[in-house]
Amino acid sequence: MDKFNIAIDGPAGAGKSTIARLVAGMLGFIYVDTGAMYRAVTWKVQQEGLHPNQETEVVALANRMRIELIPGPEGQQVFVDGVDVTKEIRMTTITDDVSQIASIGGIRQLLVALQKQMAVAKGIVMDGRDIGTHVIPDAEVKIFLTASVTERAERRFKEMHTNGTGTLTLEQLEQDIARRDQMDQEREISPLKRAHDAVLMDSTAMTIAEVVDEILGLCKDKVGGGK
Ligand code: DC
Repeated sequence: MDKFNIAIDGPAGAGKSTIARLVAGMLGFIYVDTGAMYRAVTWKVQQEGLHPNQETEVVALANRMRIELIPGPEGQQVFVDGVDVTKEIRMTTITDDVSQIASIGGIRQLLVALQKQMAVAKGIVMDGRDIGTHVIPDAEVKIFLTASVTERAERRFKEMHTNGTGTLTLEQLEQDIARRDQMDQEREISPLKRAHDAVLMDSTAMTIAEVVDEILGLCKDKVGGGK
């Protein structure tokens, strides 16, 4: 079976990363979390003391920095100019600014070009907001994964308490998710939108294993399997 690409888009906290990582593992494909790239730029912007409003400087900085994504059994590791930022980019200080950084045209242009390069060799499971619409519109399998705001906030809450990356209450998380949904959906360039040919999956009442199974089933239907 030839390799193919899988695009998984959807709002924050829908379970895209976990599911994309598991699907990639099952198929022997490489998992690429594109949100981590926007977070890596945000990390560097904060390190350099820039404000997300300083668009020209932010874009120039992003063009100078080197982002490396290293796939591993625990998920993807992220390096910025050789520094491991995998954990730090999940902090709420980064989450607070990342939607604004992701709305800058010059940043999207740069990161989308890098992502397109990664997908050329096929055998990629890529998750984000614009993967099926802009990055790999020719992906053989496209999923738009969503879940209710309440369910997504509850999942983030549990995740943050497990890995110790946050101190927000459930209510604050719900507000934050709703705010990010709005920014991601309303931005001018490449807003979060379901591609016309993406399969809509609502994971609110589904287990992770059920979602993974359904995606693997879709792969079978569309391209005859994996590996
Ligand atoms: O999935 P995440 O929460 O790590 O994404 C971080 C931010 O990056 C989020 O505000 C949406 C944005 N993003 C994007 O605009 N396009 C992508 N392909 C991936 C993420």
